[in-house]
Amino acid sequence: MAEIIDGRAMAQKLLARTAEQVKAIEARTGQAPGLAVVLVGSDPASEVYVGRKISQCRKAGIRSVEHRLPADTAEQDLLTLIDALNEDATIHGILIQLPLPKHIDAALVLKRISPHKDVDGFHPVNVGRLSTGTGGLVPCTPLGIMMLLDSVIEDYRGLDAVVIGKSNIVGKPVAMLLLEREATVTVTHIETKDLPDVTRKADIVIAAAGAPHLVRGYWVKPGAVVIDVGITRVTDHDGSTRIVGDCATHELEHARAITPVPGGVGPMTIACLLANTVQAAEMANDD
Ligand code: GUN
Repeated sequence: MAEIIDGRAMAQKLLARTAEQVKAIEARTGQAPGLAVVLVGSDPASEVYVGRKISQCRKAGIRSVEHRLPADTAEQDLLTLIDALNEDATIHGILIQLPLPKHIDAALVLKRISPHKDVDGFHPVNVGRLSTGTGGLVPCTPLGIMMLLDSVIEDYRGLDAVVIGKSNIVGKPVAMLLLEREATVTVTHIETKDLPDVTRKADIVIAAAGAPHLVRGYWVKPGAVVIDVGITRVTDHDGSTRIVGDCATHELEHARAITPVPGGVGPMTIACLLANTVQAAEMANDD
């Protein structure tokens, strides 16, 4: 029977630790860490994620400031807002919820955020730091994935890790973190040939393709650890909807451990965002 890695419980612990750090920062500086959350347009999934991020901030004592902009916001207006947030000493972290509307150049926008306030870790400076192992803010989902893996794996050296998906948000950064631990990392994607043959050799499978139930039982070798990053809303015959992951979990009983969907990676991503905000506030106070 595969162990189910409880992301909710782990996230609660991290949130409790973060709340303590928030109190300590407030006691020392007279100011709670501040996070600006920017949502452009009204993508329903983004609305849900932003709502969760803000409610968790409140629980942890982080001051969150929400900026909701209409879908037709001009790119220049968003850049001007980011400039103001970069200058604002009460704001320690800036999060621009993705995806942005098509008329806005996301790369340009992310580059405009001060790397010190880049709690998503998407700025080229932080991407470069991650790939050279020189600190900086690390993207939240990959950070959460490593904490989930750390609960079942002590030593990554020489383990074969296969990442499915090459996104800038998950696939590429998690590959860097696994490489840093001296796993042998293969990053696969939509064009990869014979994907099940590749994943079947892996000790660690990170499924981040956004394709419901892509990873079947025969894709995974007995004893492997599987992290399911997928969150796709599907509609059942009766019209009800539910969230499913990238793994056919019911076929993976021979795995050593697996994260559930929901209740695995998702809660850890939010907890790591708050932890990154505290890290950004601590870096600002050290300056
Ligand atoms: N959209 C999907 N995942 C993310 C994320 O981790 N951060 C941001 N800002 N937007 C997202």
